[in-house]
Amino acid sequence: MALSEKRDLMKVVVIEDSKTQAHRLRRLLEGEGFSVQVAEDGEAGLRLCAGPALPDIVVSDVLMPGIDGYEVCRRLKSTPATSRVPVLLLTSLADPQDVVRALAAGADNFVTKPYDAARLLARIRLTIANHTRATDECVVDVQGTSFRVDAPPERILRLLVSCLEDATERNAELEASRAALALANQQREVLITAERAARLAREELLAIVAHDLRTPLGVIGLSSNALQEAVPAGPAGDEARALAGLAERAAAQMGLLIRDLLDVSSIEAGRLRFEFHDHDPVALLDEAANLLAPLAAQKEISVEKRVAAEVGLVRCDRDRIQQVLSNLIGNAIKFTPDNGKISLSAVGTGDEVTFIVTDNGPGIAAEAIPRIFDRHWTGRGKAGADTGLGLYIAKGIVEAHEGRIAVAIARGGGTEFSFMLPRSGPARPSWVNAAPDTAAAPNVAR
Ligand SMILES: Nc1ncnc2c1ncn2[C@@H]1O[C@H](COP(=O)(O)OP(=O)(O)OP(=O)(O)O)[C@@H](O)[C@H]1O
Ligand SMILES: [Mg+2]
Repeated sequence: MALSEKRDLMKVVVIEDSKTQAHRLRRLLEGEGFSVQVAEDGEAGLRLCAGPALPDIVVSDVLMPGIDGYEVCRRLKSTPATSRVPVLLLTSLADPQDVVRALAAGADNFVTKPYDAARLLARIRLTIANHTRATDECVVDVQGTSFRVDAPPERILRLLVSCLEDATERNAELEASRAALALANQQREVLITAERAARLAREELLAIVAHDLRTPLGVIGLSSNALQEAVPAGPAGDEARALAGLAERAAAQMGLLIRDLLDVSSIEAGRLRFEFHDHDPVALLDEAANLLAPLAAQKEISVEKRVAAEVGLVRCDRDRIQQVLSNLIGNAIKFTPDNGKISLSAVGTGDEVTFIVTDNGPGIAAEAIPRIFDRHWTGRGKAGADTGLGLYIAKGIVEAHEGRIAVAIARGGGTEFSFMLPRSGPARPSWVNAAPDTAAAPNVAR
């Protein structure tokens, strides 16, 4: 009771330019029974201390417009009427000089920002209770700057103890955040390991399923082919033949889908296998074009080849590059309307051979270009039978050859896909028959 009555009498002058901080301090101190007066800057604070009723303590921010907290302190201490008023500075303590600066200015104690309420109150009470006037002048050198300190040893000690307390508290906070960070890292590692294990399990499952499906799929394909042969000639067998043909095509499509899924899984795991040899780009283009000729013929699409006589050889995995070409030419056929035109070319430039597949189909919207090589992107939402894996796989294969793949809008509005592979052996002159379509828009997606 006696203590709270005494506290009722205690006057605190708060000097704080931030209205929010000042309000917070006022509420805190008034809640504890102090009588509080707030000044927004140093000069106003000094005026509050100039009256006959001296405050029991001045709590002042350091960084303020106008005179700073050190100067407020210096002026209070050098004015006989206020020299006995204890001053507690609020500092961010970003610099070791701050402590000595506070002492040199005559401050009795300080609290580092951000402070917690209990620590501030404890320090205010301690500063009021232990306030003494005795001085003991000395000069200290901190980081090359000399400070004249006029303070009794107990005050210096108290200030340094406060400093140590605050540093210890900061250190504890730092340790706690370090521990939290270590825990988060540990959890991240666990998640990564789990994700890796899940991916491996998925790949293994895919491999098993694909392997086990291949044989029965082959049997279905062969049997439906045999069935078409076995059905007696003539209109009576037409329906059975058509159904057997449908089954054969469905089995082939399923085979391709399984291969694509397995390839995606291998690309993502970095496990796609390659057999690198030197190959003739002309032969590669011929082979791909011949393979897809029946498809193009169905839509009466003409396929034109423009290949240099001496384009040089490329070092690549033949089957995988066939897969890339089949995807690109297959897309060109799929997306180009009947009676369209596709052109295939290979051109040697420097250390590379560039394969180009151009069509005069509908082209690709400029905004779709950055996404075209994304996994499962088809530009048609989720609908449709296509998986949107073809270009993703093609990019994975080309990049595994240290090559680059790109798409551009072709002259006339069609689509131009190109991919570059490292040439094997010394560069040779190329393009004796025709020049590539250089007017195409620049390649923007890779
Ligand atoms: N030559 C092209 N002309 C117009 N659009 C194309 C062409 N090539 C690709 N695209 C667009 O890019 C999308 C992605 O092609 P991608 O080959 O990856 O998948 P897809 O052909 O739809 O399916 P999948 O190849 O898996 O059967 C296509 O769905 C289509 O919208
Ligand atoms: Mg495709």
